[in-house]
Amino acid sequence: MLRSVLIMQRRTEKLMEFAVNRGFFWPSFEIYRSKVEVGGFYDYGPLGVELKRNIVEKWRKVFIYPYQDIIYEVDTPIIMPEIVFKASGHLEHFTDYVVECTRCGRKYRADHLVEEELRRRGVKVRTEGLTETDLERLIREHNVKCPACGGELSQVYKFNLLFKTTIGPYSNNVGYIRPETAQGMFVSFPRVFELAGRKLPLGIAQIGKVGRNEISPRQGLIRLREFSQMEIELLFDPADPACPYLDEVRDVRIRVAPEDEVAKAVREGREPRAYEYTPQELVEKKIVINEWMAFFMALATVYMNELGVPLDKQFFLAKLPEERAHYASCAFDQMVWSERFGWIEVSGLAYRTDYDLSRHARYSGYDLSATRRLERPVEVEEVRVYPNPQRIKELYGERAPEVMRIVGALSKEDIQRLAAGESIRIDDVEIRPDMVYIRRSIRKITQEKFIPHVVEPSFGVDRIVYVTLEYAFHLVDSDRILLRLPPDIAPIKAAVLPIVKKSPLTDIGLSIYRDLARRGIRVIYDADGSIGARYSKCDEIGIPVAITVDEKTPENNTVTMRDRDTRLQIRVPVNEVYPILREVVEERRSLREIGLERGFEIIERR
Ligand code: ATP
Ligand code: GLY
Repeated sequence: MLRSVLIMQRRTEKLMEFAVNRGFFWPSFEIYRSKVEVGGFYDYGPLGVELKRNIVEKWRKVFIYPYQDIIYEVDTPIIMPEIVFKASGHLEHFTDYVVECTRCGRKYRADHLVEEELRRRGVKVRTEGLTETDLERLIREHNVKCPACGGELSQVYKFNLLFKTTIGPYSNNVGYIRPETAQGMFVSFPRVFELAGRKLPLGIAQIGKVGRNEISPRQGLIRLREFSQMEIELLFDPADPACPYLDEVRDVRIRVAPEDEVAKAVREGREPRAYEYTPQELVEKKIVINEWMAFFMALATVYMNELGVPLDKQFFLAKLPEERAHYASCAFDQMVWSERFGWIEVSGLAYRTDYDLSRHARYSGYDLSATRRLERPVEVEEVRVYPNPQRIKELYGERAPEVMRIVGALSKEDIQRLAAGESIRIDDVEIRPDMVYIRRSIRKITQEKFIPHVVEPSFGVDRIVYVTLEYAFHLVDSDRILLRLPPDIAPIKAAVLPIVKKSPLTDIGLSIYRDLARRGIRVIYDADGSIGARYSKCDEIGIPVAITVDEKTPENNTVTMRDRDTRLQIRVPVNEVYPILREVVEERRSLREIGLERGFEIIERR
């Protein structure tokens, strides 16, 4: 047992060292490390950029391309004006708790500190969703001190994680870096909705950078202050929540720890258990609230599996009501097992209802509703409000046009409240009943307006980059690194290696290399050192195929193609190299399979 833990530790330590040394990623601002401490930022090097790009592209292949009839990708700004985050609720709710050491001044994320300190003492607590009073109580009860200097801890207080800036030269024009790509999609919803012919369901997808001013960033790529997300806002009519693609994923097994199991585990002080379900079972047993949630769970499981994570190393963990984000009425975290970090969340799946669009409609004064046809006409009492321009002008002066727009876009609930004689407040605007005319009428309607509901899968790219590397990283033959990345995910697809650095082998090698490079394949050419050492170098950075130009090449125009994982080789004509490579990379076919199928000479490992 101890031996296997030590092997695991050595493996993951070697992996971190390897990732930095081979240029996958490293901490940013290294040259200024002695002058300033800024954690939570990482650079990606050449291999990391390619790996990340392939992971992102794989996500598109699983989540967007097969459903491109309804899912559209957008790219919206990283900096957004303050009103967006007032509307989204992030200014109010996007906070974590901080506690400070009264002696050395170090600051900690209170829930993490308490959880880790107590775990060290053998006490298991779950701190997600606890209030500042709960956290303070735990700190005092268990006499938790500053882990660095043993000093007393301060009171717990809230810290907003939004990065603030000003836009242009006006200090009152406040902006924030988006903490999720989602808000750009909600704000651009009317445009995309129009482009999609005002049809639902509609998915808006976005991949991009976000910023969160994390209190104590750590664990490399796992908790950053700037990171990338891949998100979809799937908008649908709540009266028609069916997912037309559910049947396509019926064979996917999904592991889930449902909400009642999580609640029970918390009461009993143990880890929740995950059970296996089909997407249909998740819906029938009401473990998820609608079909879209089950559908995205299936895709997310397939996606992580395609990146190398087996089914038993991933599951969805239901979030209890007090643990959910402010906008979510049902949510799951997709957890993946990491040898180094334990279970980590790689994606969140949330049912955001009409929370975001309703709030943006309210704050912007823009109509963000969709329309549904009724099966048969119905008579309804309709209450309408019209602005009273004179009164609005008296009360709001120059802001009158803005206030009139807000009145024009009031929600049904707000109109009902005004009609009942109540005032309502939207941001800093108070709308009183005397600012509007109220008209009631009975009308026959054939269609009605509603705000679409949203299910959102949200993936963190950087955590997935780390997890993918961890699952691919193997130490073989005592200390040789073998990076078994799936061929379509590997940063470099092929290496061209003349067996000796001699003409005409080098000339032929260079011409194969140039041909592949021109066709857009990521490929390297290496003629230096022994062939064994060069194969090892290729295996280490996960190159799936090595193409060797040898003595037979000038004679019969053939080369060998070597499989990274089995070391098997097939001898093929030079003009077959490109099509075979494409099959290996795009269809994940093995060289053995291709060799047997086409009758190429197969040379077993040597
Ligand atoms: P955590 O509980 O770990 O702080 P979260 O619940 O705040 O994560 P979400 O808000 O659901 O995370 O964000 C969606 C995804 O973005 C996460 O599943 C994760 O993959 C990624 N993510 C969130 N915070 C970070 C971070 N600080 N650094 C890197 N990735 C992150
Ligand atoms: N969009 C979900 C999140 O980032 O929290």
